[in-house]
Amino acid sequence: MLDSSIVSSIGPCVAEVEEQLAKYASNKHCTLVVSGTAALHAALVALGVKANDEVITQSLTFLATCNAISYQQAHPIFMDVEEDSFGICPGQLERFLAQNTYLKDNICINRHSGRIIKACVAMHTLGHIGKINEIQAICKKYHISLIEDAAEAMGSMRDGMTFGKYSDVAITSFNGNKIITAGGGGAIFTNDDTLHNHVQHITKNAKQPHQYEYIHDQIGFNYRMPNLNAALLKAQLELIDQFLINKKELAQQYDNFFDHIPTIEYVKPPPSCDSNFWLNAIKFNSKEERSAFLQETNDAGMSTRPLWKPMHQLIMFKNCQKTKLNITEDLYQKIVTLPSSVTCLK
Ligand SMILES: Cc1ncc(COP(=O)(O)O)c(C=O)c1O
Repeated sequence: MLDSSIVSSIGPCVAEVEEQLAKYASNKHCTLVVSGTAALHAALVALGVKANDEVITQSLTFLATCNAISYQQAHPIFMDVEEDSFGICPGQLERFLAQNTYLKDNICINRHSGRIIKACVAMHTLGHIGKINEIQAICKKYHISLIEDAAEAMGSMRDGMTFGKYSDVAITSFNGNKIITAGGGGAIFTNDDTLHNHVQHITKNAKQPHQYEYIHDQIGFNYRMPNLNAALLKAQLELIDQFLINKKELAQQYDNFFDHIPTIEYVKPPPSCDSNFWLNAIKFNSKEERSAFLQETNDAGMSTRPLWKPMHQLIMFKNCQKTKLNITEDLYQKIVTLPSSVTCLK
């Protein structure tokens, strides 16, 4: 690849890996971009999310989910998660929409703010896929587009597919800490031809194809993945099955280990998900026990971490509309994530 001297944005590896990834994920289309965050942003733009729109998501997520919504000057609305999957709770989503919105010309309006609820971003926490089928049915009923934030879920399966079976668009991340990496990078998956063309266009500065002229027809983004990163991703994709086997083995070892400790629960994926076990987690009975464990293990040089501070507790999102977030707050106080990287040396 280096010998070819094509290391930047336009190069053969990008299109080749896009095709391989689409095939791997059983999706019609894939677009490679510079990060999972850029993928989320481009997906929101392609689905028509604009300034002052609202986007439903979970408070228990990594910051990037909400940052991408904010890049469009749209407003997140926070739902609670389910205890078994850490994904958006469909029951609460349905109740929220029934009690707080009405449809006008097939557009979902929030009674409380008067704004349009344009999209929902459901995140697959720790790599585990929750009730995305039920979330999709609810979003369809209320004419809300659905994005899967599968940044952590590459290789996880539900009903035979990771991405796109139950959403309009799905994204993943190839950041260095993910199952496979491009150094940095992300991808946008869809089965919709029009959406795909739109995503391809806006992530390449919205430049019209022309032999030599520079004509751009809207505000776009320089989000294309460079060829050099795509070459690394190509090599990583060849190893994904082995990475997933190694991840499962590590998860089994953690599960067996904590099985003997009655005060600590190993967090298992929901039964309907064949998880990639991206990040292993354990649950304590109290915040005090969790904090003591974090302190002791970090003092000993181990990279144990709490879950992300819930988004509604961050200063940028503290005034956003939210439902009761009891499970989110409880999980934040009791969960510790464990070192979960595996190597895949040949
Ligand atoms: C849930 C979630 N969404 C989005 C991202 C953003 O991906 P990236 O770091 O590639 O921008 C991440 C993590 O990296 C993530 O965990």
